[in-house]
Formats: sequence, C-alpha cells, structure tokens
Amino acid sequence: MISKPKDWVFTDPRLQKMKQDYAAYTAEDFKVWKILFDRQIVNLPKAASIAYLEGIKEVNFTADKIADFEDVNKRLAESTGWEIQVVPGLIDDDLFFGLMNNKRFCSSTWLRKMEQLDYLEEPDMFHDAFAHMPMLTNQPYVDFLENLSGLALKHIDNKWAIEVLSRIYWFTIEFGLIRENGEVKIYGAGILSSAGETKYSLSEEPAHLEYDVKKIMNTPYWKDKFQDKYFIIESYEQLYQSLPEIEAVLEEMVAEEAK
Ligand SMILES: [Fe+2]
Repeated sequence: MISKPKDWVFTDPRLQKMKQDYAAYTAEDFKVWKILFDRQIVNLPKAASIAYLEGIKEVNFTADKIADFEDVNKRLAESTGWEIQVVPGLIDDDLFFGLMNNKRFCSSTWLRKMEQLDYLEEPDMFHDAFAHMPMLTNQPYVDFLENLSGLALKHIDNKWAIEVLSRIYWFTIEFGLIRENGEVKIYGAGILSSAGETKYSLSEEPAHLEYDVKKIMNTPYWKDKFQDKYFIIESYEQLYQSLPEIEAVLEEMVAEEAK
C-alpha cells in the first residue's frame, strides 16, 4: 500500500554475502543457547503472545539446537515468505529497512559468551533468532514491518523522520505488548529475549498505555535500561491498519521540524 519493494539492496556492496557457518559453533555456544533458552522458555507460556508461542513451534526452536537459519528459511517460505539475511552486526538504516522492505529480516550469527549472559552491547543471535524469528510467521505482523520499512525508505535522507519511525519500531517490534483475551502479553523481541524485562514489563511498575501512534512518535526511548512505559495493541491487524496514520503524523512532524 505505501511502498513498492526496492531491490537495490541485493546488489549493494555493503551487503556482504554472509551465511551462517553452523559447523563453527562451539560446545560453549551450544551451552549458552541452551542456558538462555531453558531460562526463558519457562516464562513464556504465561507471558508471551499466542502468535509468538505458535511461531516458535513453527520455526521449531529447541534448547539443544542453536537455531539453524537454513531450516528457519524453509519454514518461513511456507508461512509468510520471509527470509533471514545474515548481516555482520548493526548495519546502516537504508540497508536495514531496504532488506525488510524486501521481506528479509537481518540477523547476526554470533552468540554471547558465558560471562555476558545478561548484558550485551549489541544484539546477538539469541535475541535475533529466539526473540524475533517466531514472530515472522505472523502475516499481519510482517506486512506491518514490510510497509513500515517502505515508509522509512521514502524518508531515508531525513534523520528526524528516521528517528520518529524508529520510535514506532522500538515500541512495537522490540518492546510491544498485546491484549489477548483480556490479558496483556508480550510480542516485542527486546522483552522476549530478556527474562528480567519479561517479568518487569508485565508488572505494575511501568506504565501500560494504549497503542497511540502520535504519542509513540513523540516519545523518545533509551537503550541502556528498562523502558518506563509500554504500549498495548489489540491485534497485529491494528498495527498494519495504523500505517496510514503513521504516514500522516510523520508528514506533520517532518513539516513542523522543517519550519
Ligand atoms: Fe531486535
């Protein structure tokens, strides 16, 4: 609706032809994956969104096997047609959004070390795989992601526009909550990969606000501590259907900033 896929990303020299080297994972890597998996999976039946719980079955993640992206890609091909694109770590915004606008989700392949179980400077593959990939089986969710990225590409040269759209990404894809059968559940990957934030986000400590495009776009966020507020959607369709409003508010905010 908002954008057409732009496939220039595939020939961009910054996009290295990277693959997951599964044979290179060490015994310690397998141990780290298992510890993180076991520690978090017990919290999820009560805390995570149905879409996530169904998705993790669909991508077939288990404690004993580090996620294998080839297998994930086969499974995603049958559900939403998305694919995992291995990237070296954090990449430029235009590539990041360009890939997602082409149904490619970026993931790193390295795993944190045993001494970094709880704190990371940059997301590792436990976050990228365990927390993000199950949600890629949900059609309205990925449609939202694809079109939000298209909107970002349209404004890629405008730093303020990208900042404002990043707030939407942050408070939905990374730190979003959803109401299901009257209960608040987690679908945001930043929460799902953290046992501590899983508990905290559903507690009475932070504010729980209704999904509000304009409010989110005016809410700065931080990366080095838990959020003080979370926004609750009613459905993934609601996210997708909010795209025209996101675009309208964005245009308003960009015009206001340019004055
Ligand atoms: Fe993430």
